[in-house]
Amino acid sequence: MRIVLISDIHANWPALEAVWREIKKIGYDQIWCAGDIVGYYPWPNEVAQWVFEYADRVVMGNHDAIVAGLMDADYFNDAARYAILWTLETLREDLKKKIALLPLRLDLGNSYLVHDTPLNPLSMEYITDAYSAAQTLELVDKPYTVYGHTHQPVVFAYNGNQIREFRNFQNFPLKEGWKFLINPGSVGQPRDGIPLASFAIWDTDTNRLTLKRVDFDKKKVLEEIRKVGLPEIFALRLFEGW
Ligand SMILES: [Fe+2]
Repeated sequence: MRIVLISDIHANWPALEAVWREIKKIGYDQIWCAGDIVGYYPWPNEVAQWVFEYADRVVMGNHDAIVAGLMDADYFNDAARYAILWTLETLREDLKKKIALLPLRLDLGNSYLVHDTPLNPLSMEYITDAYSAAQTLELVDKPYTVYGHTHQPVVFAYNGNQIREFRNFQNFPLKEGWKFLINPGSVGQPRDGIPLASFAIWDTDTNRLTLKRVDFDKKKVLEEIRKVGLPEIFALRLFEGW
C-alpha cells in the first residue's frame, strides 16, 4: 500500500493543488494528514473541504484546535493571531464542526498519527533535533509515528542506544528493530529553506519512505493575501522557505 503523508497545509490552496496533482500522477492508496489544516493562508474552506473529502486519516493541529474553540490564540504572535481570527470569521460552520471532531492522535496498528508529539498530543512540543527525538522514541510504544508541526521534513531513527537523523530521505528503508519519527514537512509553509511544498510517500509493501518536493504558485498566494488583507509576510516567506 502507498500512503501519502501530508501535514501543515495551513489553508494554502495553490500548494495543496500542486501536491494533489503530483500524488494523482504518482498513484496512492491512502492519504494521512497530520493536522494544521488551516491558519496563515486565505483558503480555509477549500483546503478543509479537500481534507475531509480525500484524506483517509486526519488529526487535529494546534491551529485547528483554535478554530474549533478548544485552544486560545494568546500564545501566537500578532500576525498569526490576526490570521487565525480571520480564519474563524471565514471558515464555514459545517467545516468548523468537522474540525472540532478530529482526534488528537490516531492509533493505526503499528503507527501513530499525531500533530506534534505522540506522548502528549497538542502539548505543542517541537521535535526538531535528535535529542528530543530520542527522548520521545525511548518512550513511544509503536515503531512508527507520523507527525508534523515543525514544518521541517525529517526522519529520526532510534534503536535503543543510537539516534540517527535523515533530512532528505529517498527510498529510505524503515528497518526492523528501530523506532521512527517521520515528519513529511509542510505542504503550505515549508520552513527548511527550500521553497517547495513538502510531502512523503510511505510504501508499506517495501517499507520505504520517500520525500517529495513540488513547486507551487506563490504569486497567487501573495495576490490573494493582499486581496483579503492577511499579513503579507506569510506570502513573502514562501519565496525563501522559512
Ligand atoms: Fe503548523
